Amino acid sequence: MAARKEKALSRLVMVSNRVIDFGAASQAGGVSVAIYDALARHSGFWFGWNGQVEETETPETVVSRDGNHTTATIPLTAADYNDFYLGYSNSVLWPVFHNRLDLAQFEAGYYSRYVAVNEKFATHLAPLIEPDDVIWIHDYHLFPMALELRKRGIENPIGFFLHIPVGPAQALIAIPEHREIARALGAYDLVGVQTHRDVRNLIDFLQQSVFGSLLPSGRIRACDAEFDIGCFPVGIDSNYFANSPITQDGENPEASRIIGIDRLDYTKGLPQKFRAFGKLLEDCPEHRRRIVLSQFAPPTRESVEAYADIRSELESLSGAINGRFGELDWVPINYIHRPIPRSELRDVYRSSRICWVTPLMDGMNLVSKEYVASQDPKDPGVLILSKFAGAAEQLRDAVLVNPYDPNDMVQGLRKALEMPIDERVARHDKLASIVCKSDAWGTSFFSALVKAGKRRTGRGQPSARVRAAMKRLDTVPKKAGPKKSVAAHVGG
Ligand code: G6P
Repeated sequence: MAARKEKALSRLVMVSNRVIDFGAASQAGGVSVAIYDALARHSGFWFGWNGQVEETETPETVVSRDGNHTTATIPLTAADYNDFYLGYSNSVLWPVFHNRLDLAQFEAGYYSRYVAVNEKFATHLAPLIEPDDVIWIHDYHLFPMALELRKRGIENPIGFFLHIPVGPAQALIAIPEHREIARALGAYDLVGVQTHRDVRNLIDFLQQSVFGSLLPSGRIRACDAEFDIGCFPVGIDSNYFANSPITQDGENPEASRIIGIDRLDYTKGLPQKFRAFGKLLEDCPEHRRRIVLSQFAPPTRESVEAYADIRSELESLSGAINGRFGELDWVPINYIHRPIPRSELRDVYRSSRICWVTPLMDGMNLVSKEYVASQDPKDPGVLILSKFAGAAEQLRDAVLVNPYDPNDMVQGLRKALEMPIDERVARHDKLASIVCKSDAWGTSFFSALVKAGKRRTGRGQPSARVRAAMKRLDTVPKKAGPKKSVAAHVGG
């Protein structure tokens, strides 16, 4: 009976560059957790790269099922990995969208391989698509996917969600292929971004790049196409985190833990954070021995040149601060160069007095939301959040700081350390009410995508199967309590 019901519903097809194997010892960033959570509420499957490099130009699509999740994956070749993943995706699009034109490497061959991998993905995905499927593409690796699927006759609603921030148009139009990227967006029915700032920047980019225009209907016209752009801030499964067991600071009850969890990425502002921590210990001796900064920073994209120096810079900064201020029984910075197991995450959040999230630019940053959701409402910790994280548009009651300004960083830390209980509770109440509502992300994007698809195709009402799927997304209760543990969490 249950199987018949599932078969009758339209499926959600998620597509992202990296598909996480939740059964294996893998790492899960914010994007994969968000996709995993959305798919837990909807029938469908997740398509993308299996994380392996294999020398075959004609790979087979491997479909596998793990609990409620079905994945369909293919490997990449070494050339794909170098020129599509390390090259165009992470040495061109990633730095430029984070407004780091200085780190971009526009090498010949990157873009053609980027398009070729999108073609390969589309060729393998197209035969798996059924007429009522709703297709949702994720992130900057896959801008041309809808165009490639349309070329292969796919007429289904296709949405795109960009998890990273949209830098200023002036930076984006420095990309030699910026017009191709703008044109690729026209093949989608709906393009979603994290913040209102991103919506403004994206429209500005389309205007400057391809003379796009904002229509009175609110839709965008660019390159002979009309589509919607919307702001859909990614959320978390707040129930999962709200069920944290109550714990105290375990290993060192004398010192309050300040937690940081970030991929070791130049956008995360880690050197600025370590320097500010050293400055606090210098300026405020009363806090010495009373606090510990525990920073998880697993390595990422190590073969990309721009990432080469950050590991040694942080090791040298933490070594210098520990050497200068440390004591026999107190090490100020606990710097951990690997991911935190997801099964330990809630405990670590709950037992940390402060969560310190200070990216120089970030799409959303789900660590900040997870921390809020994990707190004991009667004795909550304090979130310190960079003004330049997407989450800052929603989490206005965090202690907001400018990561470029050492004085502001130290003031923010002092404010958090010295904050009285009534202020902590008042701020947390407001933050928690926003975070609790944030798990509607998948539902709202899906509904908006179905509506946008209807406008493009002029097909009138969505089919009964699509309506049933929308209803199901609205009504299916989320699973409470711990779910199958994702092996490791690396931050956004
Ligand atoms: C960011 C990106 C994701 C990406 C993740 C991990 O969150 O927005 O698309 O999957 O980082 O990076 P990686 O390069 O390891 O896939």
